[in-house]
Amino acid sequence: MRVDGQTYRTVWSDDSRRLVHIIDQRHLPWSFCIENLATVESTATAIRDMHVRGAGCIGVLAAYGMWLAAREAQGSKELLSTLANALIETRPTARNLAWAVERQLATISSLSPQDWESASLASAESIANEDALWCEQIGQHGLPLLSAIHAEKPTEERVQILTHCNAGWLAFADWGSATAPIYAAHRAGIPVHVWVDETRPRNQGARLTAWELQNEGVPHTIIADNAGGHLMQHEMVDIVITGTDRTTGKGDVANKIGTYHKALAAFDNGIPFYVALPSSSFDWSCEDSLREIPIEERDGAEIAYMEGRNREGALEEIQVVNPNSPILNPAFDVTPARLIKGLITERGVCKADRASISNLFPEGSRV
Ligand code: MRU
Repeated sequence: MRVDGQTYRTVWSDDSRRLVHIIDQRHLPWSFCIENLATVESTATAIRDMHVRGAGCIGVLAAYGMWLAAREAQGSKELLSTLANALIETRPTARNLAWAVERQLATISSLSPQDWESASLASAESIANEDALWCEQIGQHGLPLLSAIHAEKPTEERVQILTHCNAGWLAFADWGSATAPIYAAHRAGIPVHVWVDETRPRNQGARLTAWELQNEGVPHTIIADNAGGHLMQHEMVDIVITGTDRTTGKGDVANKIGTYHKALAAFDNGIPFYVALPSSSFDWSCEDSLREIPIEERDGAEIAYMEGRNREGALEEIQVVNPNSPILNPAFDVTPARLIKGLITERGVCKADRASISNLFPEGSRV
């Protein structure tokens, strides 16, 4: 996608084939910074400390991390496996991360050590290209949902979409999942407007989704997380589209904390709630989503402190809670399939149930 007229992906390797580059999302929307990573340790830190975040993006970075691991392991399968585990443990909820690392391990382990580095780099590039392509296809499959809503309205009226967190291009290699249909509709001339949940505690919506939409010229408005239900009751939302960090074969969706509330409010108001995902976010082996999906619990400091620019333009971090009160900070929740109208995937749109998902992804039912 474009930043100041230049096209970027979120993760890439340079021509010298020594470094991995990332857009360091911690500085957005105030500055656009690129960070260079040369080791598995710095890659793991970048994922754990959220220099990059978003399920697809951390999967792609982990794939490049496995290229660095293949170099650092110098032929030792034991060290390779230790480094792979170190990457997987950085962020437990998003399935894409372990999926990418496991795919890299399968590629590497079938080869002799002198081929590890070149093969894992080629495979990381395939994973990044696939991620971008799948998101673009999600856009094409989601577009008819938005054009059908528009067809029911007076021509000048915008399709009102609500989204939570950032499942935009920053959360993937490119395009995004929830935003891909929005970008596709906007480029096709369908008038859209996006309600952007601020997404406490880290404000990925207010900082990242809003920045992305602005760069693409997509009309949008930032709202407090608690405003969505009210807007839905007043017919100001036509459709909700979110991303997901992990979706089970039954269609239950783990996504950024607060998604479940939005799905409940949408269900109560008869508003279609869609989840957009590439197949790398499916967890085919999970049977009991509430018990089995690991929900990341993050540092309470994310709730206690907020970062922002003061009126003079300087960045500051300020405490926004009663000092010394205990804080609980679960980063994700699970939305049950019954609240979800459909899944928008790279192979098409399906219902959030086992039969419909297996129909599109028969390989999942064989796991
Ligand atoms: O904690 P994050 O920012 O890595 O969480 C991931 C997300 O951005 C959201 O949950 C998103 O909707 C799914 S990622 C495509």
